[in-house]
Amino acid sequence: MSTIDEIKARVDIIDLVSETVQLRRSGKNYTGFCPFHSNTRTPAFVVFPETGSWRCFGQCNEGGDIFGFVMKKEGWDFGEALKFLAEKAGVDLKPSSYEEQVLEANQALRDLLEDAVIFYRHNLLNTPAGNQVLDYLHRQRNLSDETIETFGLGYAPNAWEAGLSHFRTKGYPEADLVACGLVTQREAEGDASRGVYDRFRHRLMIPIRDERGRMAGFGARVVDPQDVPKFLNSPQTVLFDKGRLLYGLDRARKAIRARDQAVIVEGYLDVIALHQAGFANAVSPMGTALTEAQLRMLKRFSRRMVLALDADAAGDQATLRGLQIARQAMDRSTDPVFDARGLLGYEGRLQADIRVTALPAGMDPDEVVAQDSSEWERIIAGARPIVIHVMETLAHGSDLEDSKVKSEIAAQVLPLVEEVADPVEREDYRQRLARLLQVDERALLEATRPAQGRARARTRAVTDKSTREAKKTVPAALPALTTNDLLEGHCISILLRRPDMVFRIDRALQENGLARLSMDDFQSANHQVLFGLIGDSLVQVHAEPLMFVLNGLSLPLMELTDQLLRQTQKLDPNEARVLEDVIRTLLVLRQRRLHQQMDHLRYLMEEAQRGGDSRVGDYQKTMFEYVQARSRLDRAYGRYTVHVI
Ligand code: UTP
Ligand code: MN
Repeated sequence: MSTIDEIKARVDIIDLVSETVQLRRSGKNYTGFCPFHSNTRTPAFVVFPETGSWRCFGQCNEGGDIFGFVMKKEGWDFGEALKFLAEKAGVDLKPSSYEEQVLEANQALRDLLEDAVIFYRHNLLNTPAGNQVLDYLHRQRNLSDETIETFGLGYAPNAWEAGLSHFRTKGYPEADLVACGLVTQREAEGDASRGVYDRFRHRLMIPIRDERGRMAGFGARVVDPQDVPKFLNSPQTVLFDKGRLLYGLDRARKAIRARDQAVIVEGYLDVIALHQAGFANAVSPMGTALTEAQLRMLKRFSRRMVLALDADAAGDQATLRGLQIARQAMDRSTDPVFDARGLLGYEGRLQADIRVTALPAGMDPDEVVAQDSSEWERIIAGARPIVIHVMETLAHGSDLEDSKVKSEIAAQVLPLVEEVADPVEREDYRQRLARLLQVDERALLEATRPAQGRARARTRAVTDKSTREAKKTVPAALPALTTNDLLEGHCISILLRRPDMVFRIDRALQENGLARLSMDDFQSANHQVLFGLIGDSLVQVHAEPLMFVLNGLSLPLMELTDQLLRQTQKLDPNEARVLEDVIRTLLVLRQRRLHQQMDHLRYLMEEAQRGGDSRVGDYQKTMFEYVQARSRLDRAYGRYTVHVI
């Protein structure tokens, strides 16, 4: 029995869930109000003691076992949930010796960093130079002593070896001082005895912690405005990964969950000021563009995110035209902060709701709240979806009577619209754009599909999206394969070798009274992109289809494609068998999706019937359609299995 199974056997899911949700017995199962989404009137949350699982059939439609439950409830990762539940179950967790070593080493570095927080704080409070900085924090930044203490602010003395000798005296090995970024190696070689010196000198020190509050590194702001760079962060270390950490998240996670909204600003001091003003759901990246990993982390607490951009970045037409908002201010790094296209990709993949709001010109969030904190609420409430933001910013101040201007705006916004994962949303944006530019929506639709001869229209069903799609970034680490993923991959791997089969599959599906082959047959974004490319490869004459596909791939997709191609190195020479194989797999995928939908609907019907809900009739109609669809699928599936066996 694995540790996980043992924990599952010992923790009663009903007891566990009952700690947060009031459950009512309903047959074999238990129901209650979903703790993960607010404003529900129906108890759509179900716990199944037999399988030890739970599911919300309402808005969030999520489910899982006891681990998933505490992860979601507390916003923990698996490791944290494991620790918590193991303790509850009275099961000992024995990390492997390797894990143990790594954990121990990291802990030693964290302890050192905690000690550094104390050192810098001591210097802030008890030295003349530090007191000047403290004065600045009080008077210029309006920070209270309580805030300064909670955020652990400090001061690094104006000397080359103050920290170094302090930590040496305390017995820390030099290697650890280097490993956690407190000291830097001297570049010029020669004097080996004095090889390292303090990285942070004469700076305001801002401790940066991970989402669990464990020390990771420091951000350090100049005290003397002449000094450069304005902000100096810890270097990349085992504990400090700029692409994963979000400043303030350890203190913000509760508020983010409570408000069901995360606000992303740009600036350590802005986060601190917002928290002090009562807006504790604010976090900040560390001077780099937002990454998917950061947003994924945030989504553990809420899927609703608002990006508060400064006016320059949010409204700059030149950078928006490049569909990228770059840092303009002189003393900032040149990393792009806001990349509309990239964000839309993340939004789709994470199923998050990312909105943008612009700050008043020339003001940072801390200045806004210092003036009037209700203004901050107004700014956040004004957040708009990314596409709308770009659309309206481009239109603002442009001459919309000018056809050339219209066409230019359409050319910039449409690629973004195409990036939107949700079809209903996509259509809505198209309509809004059409209204804004006062052009016919059909004209816009044409603009999205560059003329590629008449063949294009014929295969539209199978080439829904354009090649551009393939260039979009895909997460570097492929998610763990699920069975559906494997099945989808199997189909794609065959279609990569035999793109021409698309037509025959499509015909076979139609002959069976089934929906045509389309992007919707694939749920993974990567497979959708590949499928789109395969479709496109059929309506061009410049290259062999496979070469065409390979040329259109972004780097991360290449790895996946390579894997898929390896699966079909020895493709069955019997074409009919291969064709049947693909069709059968597609049918299984469709069956699975349908069964899932039916399960969901059945549950909704039961609930509605119990509550005398008027939607029962609609549900029944839908169920009838599902049942018919299922029998069509089953019949077709029967046909394709008889042949082979
Ligand atoms: P800002 O220059 O807007 O600073 O950079 P700020 O946080 O508003 O600070 P004050 O108000 O001038 O004191 C915003 C953020 O960009 C990152 C830091 O994370 C900073 O908080 N940044 C800025 C850097 O990483 N390096 C830099 O050189 C500048
Ligand atoms: Mn500022």
